[in-house]
Order: sequence, then structure tokens, then C-alpha cells
Amino acid sequence: MPVEQFPPNHGPSTAAVHAGEHRQRAHDSITTPIVLAATYPFDDTAALIEFQEGRVAREEYGRYGNPTIRAAESKLAALESPQGHDVALLCPSGMSAITTTILAMVPSGGHIILTDDGYRRTRQFVLTILARLGVEHTVVPTGDYAALDAAVRPGQTRLIISESPTNPYLHVIDMPQVAAIGRKHRVKTMIDATFATPYNQRPLEYGIDLVTHSCTKYLGGHNDLLAGVVIGNPNIISALRDAQGILGCICDPHSAYLLMRGLKTFALRMERQNASGMAIAQFLEAHPRVARVHYPGLPSHPDHAVAVAQMRGFGGVVSFEVDGGLTETSNFIDRLRIPYIAPSLGGVESLVEQPSLMSFYELSSEERLAVGMRDNLVRLSCGIEDVADLIADLTQALDLF
Ligand SMILES: Cc1ncc(COP(=O)(O)O)c(C=O)c1O
Repeated sequence: MPVEQFPPNHGPSTAAVHAGEHRQRAHDSITTPIVLAATYPFDDTAALIEFQEGRVAREEYGRYGNPTIRAAESKLAALESPQGHDVALLCPSGMSAITTTILAMVPSGGHIILTDDGYRRTRQFVLTILARLGVEHTVVPTGDYAALDAAVRPGQTRLIISESPTNPYLHVIDMPQVAAIGRKHRVKTMIDATFATPYNQRPLEYGIDLVTHSCTKYLGGHNDLLAGVVIGNPNIISALRDAQGILGCICDPHSAYLLMRGLKTFALRMERQNASGMAIAQFLEAHPRVARVHYPGLPSHPDHAVAVAQMRGFGGVVSFEVDGGLTETSNFIDRLRIPYIAPSLGGVESLVEQPSLMSFYELSSEERLAVGMRDNLVRLSCGIEDVADLIADLTQALDLF
């Protein structure tokens, strides 16, 4: 049964609940079923020929399509592109969305530009695996648009990848500027908008070509699945889908179902997480034991003006520096009772991490400082708990150290 086209231009709450869902429901079930089929039989060879000639749209084989996955893709596309111009490709993780896109779009001998504040595994992929395949790269400082423009190698550069907001300092990219540089040089642009989600920011509306998300974070929202998505115009996504069918990085239908289920409350969760993020950022900024808060919703953030212009809310992640060193910061984190100490973000449970002890553990304090990673930095991802309880918990932990 084909996924029905959801009428365009609905708000994110309506799209999150209804887009992608079959109105002709299998077994009268209100939920889209999890279809566990590795292959899809044809009635006869005439039906096979009709399919091969593109006269009927249907599934053929699990690596090339699945109804549950298609439904999740339609929901994600409706959220990112409410006018309905763009389509989505679901992948088994955020990293596979990124690697599939790069592998499909950048040939050997090509060149790729990254901004320096990006997800470290994306950078690692480009600097190691992609370099081995003969793809060159340039890393430019996030927010330096002149450097970005100058880094383009005419005829060789195929893709500009940036993130917004970035981790952990939550820098916000000026989308129109990045899109204009891409258009000027005829180079495709991609934004990893995992930290923003389509609720808070829609890069395609600013002329960016592709948006990617780790759906493992806010979109799934319950810390119970891994998935990723890339969204853009149908021609590009069709080429990426072909590459996915060859690479074999296919999302499991169970995860696609969990993602759709999580997405139904996506807008509600985002409202809460935006509100909690802002309240906690303001609370921390006023606290005498907090040296600095990094949150784009605060006027003190260097990218506040860009964030206000481009974003509807600023998300649930708040990074801050406590008034102390590595040990005091660890002690503060250990005293928190509500957030779990864990990597990841965006789910219903609040999570906290000390980046210097997680992603940057192998570096010395001096090396960490050289890459801008301070030992007293804390990254808090607000879940959907009562914000008063989260603030009370932060208060008791800050008071004790
Ligand atoms: C900004 C960003 N992009 C991509 C990823 C990768 O996503 P996944 O863990 O779903 O592969 C992450 C994961 O932390 C991330 O933070």
C-alpha cells in the first residue's frame, strides 16, 4: 500500500502525528504496522514487467524499500519541508546518513569542506576513510565565511558540510551566507541540524541543499533507537537512495516504527525542552558558581542574533563552565541526582556529560585546551522532567561543591 501524500503546510504537531501514516489502514489499525519482509512477491511475470517499467510503485526487496520505512521518511520530510518539495532517506544511524551522502556525492579526486566545530566522527570519516579513497578536504573555522568561500576549489569541491548548532559550544551558522557561497560556486551544501531539529530550524528554507539529522536524538526522543535521515530535493535523494541500496545501510523496520511513534510527541517534547533549556541557561548564568554559559538563546552567546533570526527555539542542550577544574567539575556532576551521566542528547531523560572525560579523554588538559575543550565544561541535555526539579537538582549540586 503506497504511503499517502500528506497535504502540505501543516504545523509541526499535526505533521508529526499524521504525515506518513496510511489513511487506508491495514487491519483497521490506527498505527502503521511494522512490515518485516525481506522480499515482496509478484502475482505473475506481467506484474513484474509493469514494475520494471515503472508503471506501478511497490516494494521489491528489503534493501530497496519497506512500507514502514517509507512512512517514517514521509513524516520526517513533512516536518523538514512543510511545503512538500523535499523528500527524506532514512538510514540506520546519523553517521550512516552522513557517510552515505558523502560517498554518493563526492568522487575520488574530489574535495570536501568541513567546518571545524563539527561532530568528531564526521571529521574522522573525512580525514581517514575518505582520504584513503582519494578525496581531499579542507577544514575551515566555523563562522568564518571568507575562509569558507576561499576554500572552494573550482571544479573539485563537491560538498560543504557544516553543523548548526554545533557541539558543545552551540555555535549557530548563518545559513543564507553558507547557501550563497554554495550557489556561487555550484557546490552543494549540507547542514547537520541534529541539535536544532526541524522544530527549531529549517535550513532548506534558507537555500541549503541537504539537511541531515541523527534521529537517535530529539526526533526519536526516547533513547531507544539509532537512526539517521538526510532530506533534500527528490533528484539528490534518489541518487542517495541508489547508493544506499548498493552500500546496504538500511534502517531496521522496528527502529523506523519506534521513530514514528516517538515523532508523534516530537513537537510537544521540543516545546518542553526549549523552555527548560532556556530556563536552565538563565538560572546557570545568574549562579555565582558558574563561570560561563553557552546557550544561543542567551544574549551573551556570540551567535545570539543569528540564532534569533533563524531559530524558533534554542533546544534542550545547555553547555556551561563551572567555577573549578577537572575534579570539581566531576564532583558537581556526581552530585546530580536526576540526569544520567551518559553521551547523547535530546531524549526524554536528562543526560549530563563532562566532555573532557568523554569525547576528549585521550588528550591531556593542555591538548584539550588547545582544541578549545575546557576541563570545567559540562554539557547538560534537558529531558522532559519538571524544570523546577532540574533546577533544584542543579542548585543542590552547585551548593555542595
Ligand atoms: C551532530 C551529530 N551528528 C551526527 C551524529 C551521529 O549520529 P548517530 O549516533 O545516530 O550515528 C551525532 C551523534 O552524537 C551528532 O551529535
